[in-house]
Amino acid sequence: MKSDEFHKCKYGFNPLVKDNPDWNGPEFEFLNSSDMLDFHKSLPGYSPTPLVILPKVAEALGIKQLYVKDESRRFGIKAFKAIGASYAIYRFLKQQWESRFHTPFNEKSFNDAEVLKTLGSFTFCAATDGNHGRAVAWTANKLKQRAIIYMPENTAPARIENIHTENGEVVLVPGTFDDCVTKCAQDAETNGWQAVSDTAYPGYMELPKYIMLGYTTIFRELEDALNTPGKPGVDFVFLPAGVGGLAAAGASYYVRRYGEKRPRLICVEPSDCDCFLESVKYGNGNPLPTRGKQESIMAGLNCGIPSPIAWPIIRDGMHLFIGITDNYAEEAMRVYYKEGVTSGESGASGLAGLMALLRDPELEEAGQSIGLDKNARVLLINTEGDTDPVNYKRIINC
Ligand SMILES: Cc1ncc(COP(=O)(O)O)c(C=O)c1O
Repeated sequence: MKSDEFHKCKYGFNPLVKDNPDWNGPEFEFLNSSDMLDFHKSLPGYSPTPLVILPKVAEALGIKQLYVKDESRRFGIKAFKAIGASYAIYRFLKQQWESRFHTPFNEKSFNDAEVLKTLGSFTFCAATDGNHGRAVAWTANKLKQRAIIYMPENTAPARIENIHTENGEVVLVPGTFDDCVTKCAQDAETNGWQAVSDTAYPGYMELPKYIMLGYTTIFRELEDALNTPGKPGVDFVFLPAGVGGLAAAGASYYVRRYGEKRPRLICVEPSDCDCFLESVKYGNGNPLPTRGKQESIMAGLNCGIPSPIAWPIIRDGMHLFIGITDNYAEEAMRVYYKEGVTSGESGASGLAGLMALLRDPELEEAGQSIGLDKNARVLLINTEGDTDPVNYKRIINC
């Protein structure tokens, strides 16, 4: 039986948060890259995802305004993950080309069939709960390269099918997402394949940096609307965390753009897969695995160990960590649906976290302490659409 602590909502303020973290060391050098948005703009089919305003939901929740950056149709693969995998594979190919041919490789080269032919064939492999693997397969398919995707054996059939649709091969692994990461790393080593997993581990530290950087496009696209120069147009940003790539992208973006004037950043995880909350509470500055069973319906967040690339950024930049129960995710999906926004279980986790902070007895104190009140302007990222349509229909009940 699961311990009660994994069945209820919980929180931890970050005792290690800094107004202006010192990210000047070589390990943070990668944060200076600035070509991500231009790269994405160069991809066929690019358009910025919509910023949706939900005044009725804001009113019902008793806050001033609710903004949702809706990633549910990003590049037609129903999740934000496309911008991470594509940028990482671009950087990998750039490194390959420039070290071999000593001439520059840019966005145009990535879209140039002749250049790609000259580079030759690669097999990309990745571990996933669904969306990242789909994004890797989507990118590989566009480049006419092979993709092998490792998924937990209890993955919903629709998520497996999503990989096949992109011509990806699927390997089902007994166990959790973290077991998939291990198996994928071993097979990559044995077969000379290129891993593109979104979490880092010893011997594989570069590509997760680029995956994380790719996600910053979400925040860059908001610079005309909410992320205006000098002063942000929102007070709170909710960032879901699996391995932490997206949350680190948001934290690094807001820290570097606004320093101590940044919005309050709130990290959302499932209660029974709460590795960042666990780390911030008990890790003395170091990452810890979750003690939960990782059985949440928020499949994309079922990652038991923080990525070592994401961890220091999240530790320095995020203000509050919350663990939420699945009932809030289901309710949030229905709220979105009524407003015409399609949101899957993980996609709805930001709204779920907001609702839980405003309502759940375990989180009430945290919501008040952080100042979530009638003046609050909140930004959420709807990170996925109905990536598992069968469960989506069951939960929405339509
Ligand atoms: C829909 C969705 N939201 C959020 C996340 C969390 O992203 P990360 O693993 O970068 O923390 C994932 C990860 O797969 C996801 O699929």
